Amino acid sequence: MNTILDSKSEGDALSRYTVIMVDDELNILQTLKRCFSREKFRIICANSGAEGLKLVAETANVAVIVSDQRMPGMNGSEFLTRSREFAPDAIRMLLTGFSDIETTVVAMNEGGATHYIGKPWEETMLLQTVRDCVTQYHLVRENLRQQEVIKTQYEELEDWNRNLKERVLTQTGQIRTQLEELKLLSRRQEEKYVGTIAALAALIDMRDPRSRLHAANTAALSVSIATRMGLSKTEVETIRTAALLHDIGKNAMSDVTLAIFEDGLNEEDRRHYSEHPVLAQTAIDTIEELRPAGVLIRHHHERYDGSGFPDGLAGTDIPLGSAIISLADHCDREINSFYGANAVSLMLEKMATQVGTGIAPQLFPCLDQAAHDLYDSRIKERGNDLIQLEVIPAKLRIGMILTRDLFSASGLFLLEAGSELNVNNIRSLQRIFALDPLRGGIHIGMHTG
Ligand SMILES: [Fe+2]
Ligand SMILES: [Fe+2]
Repeated sequence: MNTILDSKSEGDALSRYTVIMVDDELNILQTLKRCFSREKFRIICANSGAEGLKLVAETANVAVIVSDQRMPGMNGSEFLTRSREFAPDAIRMLLTGFSDIETTVVAMNEGGATHYIGKPWEETMLLQTVRDCVTQYHLVRENLRQQEVIKTQYEELEDWNRNLKERVLTQTGQIRTQLEELKLLSRRQEEKYVGTIAALAALIDMRDPRSRLHAANTAALSVSIATRMGLSKTEVETIRTAALLHDIGKNAMSDVTLAIFEDGLNEEDRRHYSEHPVLAQTAIDTIEELRPAGVLIRHHHERYDGSGFPDGLAGTDIPLGSAIISLADHCDREINSFYGANAVSLMLEKMATQVGTGIAPQLFPCLDQAAHDLYDSRIKERGNDLIQLEVIPAKLRIGMILTRDLFSASGLFLLEAGSELNVNNIRSLQRIFALDPLRGGIHIGMHTG
């Protein structure tokens, strides 16, 4: 009958169950006991309903209750009904004669009996019926137990899922935080790098006070031109770095050479001056990240027509970044010679005459707006109704305004651009220039009004 359990596991499984048999006739109980003596499950007997109830209440794992119907005191139906209180799931079975058919129906309806065996019974049939009932009870128990296991496993799985979600969320959060930290670190390193470049550029400007802000202005103009030309972000950044450091080679030059404008240099000074792009490239070559900028710096004095230095490159042989820096560098030196509301336009007009010789034609149009953006507001601040002149020291007059930083012939810084001349500083300057005569004149501006 049982296809789920094999005989060994069936025996093992059934041994935990008890069958309670109740009959008022002792010889019947003895017969029953003998009949079931070889079964794995336990058989216990009571010879009254009251004793049977006591046994049911005290015994665990009662699988089957078999009761005679006709007993003094408490009959089988009543006993089975009352036994439900202590073993509600046990399978109940009534032993009854054919004449007791009515009470059998009551026992089945009220007492929860599901089987009855007619007296006298056939031993093999009784044995098999009880054995089947115990097995059925076991299967129901087992089924319930497995459902419990499945329910518990399901709950554990749900818990695990929930925890997994939380863990994933937590770990995602941690990864995000680490990424943010990495980004911050890389931003800080980038800021340090940019700060170092700016500090180097400031050192160059300090070394050559005639060109204060020159590195920053050249970089701003170069970036503006390169952006207008549609260069990539990386190219623009390399150009910015190169522009900031383009004159770093001037650190190796003497104060005298630095103090004199290019057109006032003698041949030896000029040769020395023309070395500064290569010196700059050599100086930064040890820093791998700066090498691309080093190449641009090397060529920032090349001219479009090939008349520049150090390599005499021409046209498109000149790296584009170098040509851009060269244009910006040139512009920032030129602007110091122009005053008034139209200073930038006048300067651009002058520079336009060099397009095709010193300046690459395709770059020049990009300079226009870049130069206006950078200089217009500054020129407005320093006054726009000045006319400019170059005068000898003896011609200095009160109220004149220096349009360039003023240096002695031997390179000593004397007065900054924008200073207004008065009796005292004119006397001092004339005394200095008598001892240390200038090669050129002093650049001054005068209000026209
Ligand atoms: Fe230079
Ligand atoms: Fe320069």
